[in-house]
Amino acid sequence: MARPKIALIGAGQIGGTLAHLVALKELGDVVLFDIADGTPQGKALDIAEAGPSEGFDATIKGTTDYADIAGADVCIVTAGVPRKPGMSRDDLLGINLKVMKSVGEGIAAHAPNAFVICITNPLDAMVWALREFSGLPHNKVCGMAGVLDSARFRHFLSLEFNVSMKDVTAFVLGGHGDTMVPLVRYSTVAGIPLPDLIDMGWTTQEKMDAIVQRTRDGGAEIVGLLGNGSAFYAPATSAIEMAEAYLKDQKRVLPCAAYVDGNYGLDGFYVGVPTVIGAEGVERVVEIKMNKDEQDMFDKSINAVKGLVSACKEIDNSLA
Ligand code: APR
Repeated sequence: MARPKIALIGAGQIGGTLAHLVALKELGDVVLFDIADGTPQGKALDIAEAGPSEGFDATIKGTTDYADIAGADVCIVTAGVPRKPGMSRDDLLGINLKVMKSVGEGIAAHAPNAFVICITNPLDAMVWALREFSGLPHNKVCGMAGVLDSARFRHFLSLEFNVSMKDVTAFVLGGHGDTMVPLVRYSTVAGIPLPDLIDMGWTTQEKMDAIVQRTRDGGAEIVGLLGNGSAFYAPATSAIEMAEAYLKDQKRVLPCAAYVDGNYGLDGFYVGVPTVIGAEGVERVVEIKMNKDEQDMFDKSINAVKGLVSACKEIDNSLA
């Protein structure tokens, strides 16, 4: 059987890391696409030359021609510009919206059967726009944010409790921005919910609040440290987890920016929710019960995303 074909649209920091991970994990053959001639070809050759030492069997091709993504099984989109210090994800909207138009058209023309994972920010608005521009089925287009936000939350919690990250589960809902909703009640250490751990004296409410805030600011913390770009190792790893769930029909329960139509009182809207990802793409949106505080935070987050989608429609009339 032929190896799966994985197209990476954008060969920058995240795109290059994605290509390396796909090769190391032998998930399939890689096509690395970018408009900056030389970058995708150079990165592809560099990664291919790691093959003899790592012992992976995968072809890695760099290209500036959309025709090379023909028939891709998965497309992961990072094309666009990242944040600089002081910028919010929303500041990227105008420029990255134009990028989504060309990428959406490229995918529609050459890889209409792919499972598409968008990473470009501001994520919830960009994945919506990418779906509109590509016209692909909603279940085949989603955005990577929740896996990353939850991973950041899990990492901080494992440091606080001095336990393995493997035993910490965490739950983050809503938009990928300052209004994201880390759900303390649904986050656990080996099944023990965080509120119980506070009662058990493992931590305090104040420390939990600080960790929730650090999770919300997780991307900005790295932007501030790097000074010239945004996070790329963990974002790439998170998207690979989603791609692998699709390619191997794992039916993983992963939070992602999915099209929600009917659940959560939403009618046709992309936002971060728990989903099941398998061979059909986003196979199910899991609707969880929220208490009043959580619902208020979620509603605030939804309104922020709605504002960004409206801004997209104002910039590009074809989306209205
Ligand atoms: N088509 C294809 N590639 C493009 C296009 C386009 N229209 N416009 C820009 N690019 C390419 C750039 O040439 C660059 O190589 O996208 C790549 C982006 O890479 P980086 O600048 O290194 O950004 P990266 O850190 O990978 O982040 C990409 O993901 O997390 C988000 O906020 C982040 O929106 C940003 C995106």
